[in-house]
Amino acid sequence: MKRIGIALLGVGNVGGGVHDLLASNNVMAKRARIKIEIVAASARNLRRARKRLGPGVPVHADWREAVAADGVDAVVELIGGLDDALACAREVLGAGKPLITANKALLATHGGELLALARERGAGLYYEAAVAGCVPAIRTIRDALAGDEIESIVGILNGTCNYIMTQLAREGKGFEEALALASELGYAEADPSLDVDGWDAAHKAVILAWLAYGLPLAMDRIAVEGIRGAAVADRDCAAEFGYVIKLLAHVKDHGRRGVETQVAPALIARSHPLAAVNDNLNGLLVRTRYAGELLLVGAGAGALPTASAVVADIIAAARDGAPPALPFGGKASARHCARINLGSQAYLRVRVIDAKGVLARISQTLSAAGLSIEAIHQQESHSGAEVDIAILLHELDWAALRRTMARLAKMKQVVAPPVAMPIIIPHIKDE
Ligand code: HSE
Repeated sequence: MKRIGIALLGVGNVGGGVHDLLASNNVMAKRARIKIEIVAASARNLRRARKRLGPGVPVHADWREAVAADGVDAVVELIGGLDDALACAREVLGAGKPLITANKALLATHGGELLALARERGAGLYYEAAVAGCVPAIRTIRDALAGDEIESIVGILNGTCNYIMTQLAREGKGFEEALALASELGYAEADPSLDVDGWDAAHKAVILAWLAYGLPLAMDRIAVEGIRGAAVADRDCAAEFGYVIKLLAHVKDHGRRGVETQVAPALIARSHPLAAVNDNLNGLLVRTRYAGELLLVGAGAGALPTASAVVADIIAAARDGAPPALPFGGKASARHCARINLGSQAYLRVRVIDAKGVLARISQTLSAAGLSIEAIHQQESHSGAEVDIAILLHELDWAALRRTMARLAKMKQVVAPPVAMPIIIPHIKDE
């Protein structure tokens, strides 16, 4: 049996989960004939970490001491954040040792540098747990689809947002209450604004675009919107048309125009399997040229599901005599493109004072901008009351829609800024 000694940096939610998984059931490791031993650890809360890991594992306040401990063959970085994590990654890879990390922010901002360093020093860089928790998103895109061409990836990539939106829709919970529950369950980041403002999903989307297309990791090239503005009115209006709203990451190859990467609340048809991906689950729909469509679903957040992916990476690090083949069948010419048109269709909601002729004026304004209406829904109301008019628009030019929304906002009967969302997965229509 092969043995691998690890330094476990960070004994919080996921780090504690890695320990528990190894302690309670090291079956996978036994099957792989690899004995995984935590030989040193570091943690912010020493007392709590010592209690969790037991007397056999020295716990240090400084990660450097854990990394330098005798018998460390690989380092598991679960510190999170950027500063210490980056210094640690540079040190470990620079010394030619395998680094296993779940740190999506680190990879999304410094992945290129770290990958180059890993290659130069012949060290393995493993990060399956950084995207979609236990779902094998990295291995699927990097390895399983290496011979194919990826046309697009639609992903529910943040478990916290998905959990919050499920709680709002299914249990009628308020936003703050649902977020507090997500934190309690260990889904949310230490700074939950990373989750709810879309940045965590954006980090993951940028990593996927990097793997799929060889794109530079450029966080400033992607449009990001979170779920703070997600209104109950939109959920209800979308439901009238048979849609659900999810925080979706969308990576789409537009050929010579480049690759578009975005994160935003968006509509998907209720009949599509991704619409049933609820709670802390993540889901990825990958469209490829040759294999067609693949759907991957599993727990995207939480201690043990994430620990499961970390432990699989430790096993991979122990198995690989040489570091893993690192990416990608990317296109040499791959580039980010400006926002083109997220989704071919759009949903629009306009809140108005119900008055004679208001619907006609809205549809005239849309039509004058070249925007074509597929369906309209207006709640029952009475003259003078506030009411939502929800509209589905055919394939459109997003810039034209934004200009039209500004025009609509100026109408005297319109009482709030209009809301628009892309329809990423429309209903399948009969020919
Ligand atoms: N906060 C993250 C999420 C954890 O909710 O998806 C997993 O990356």
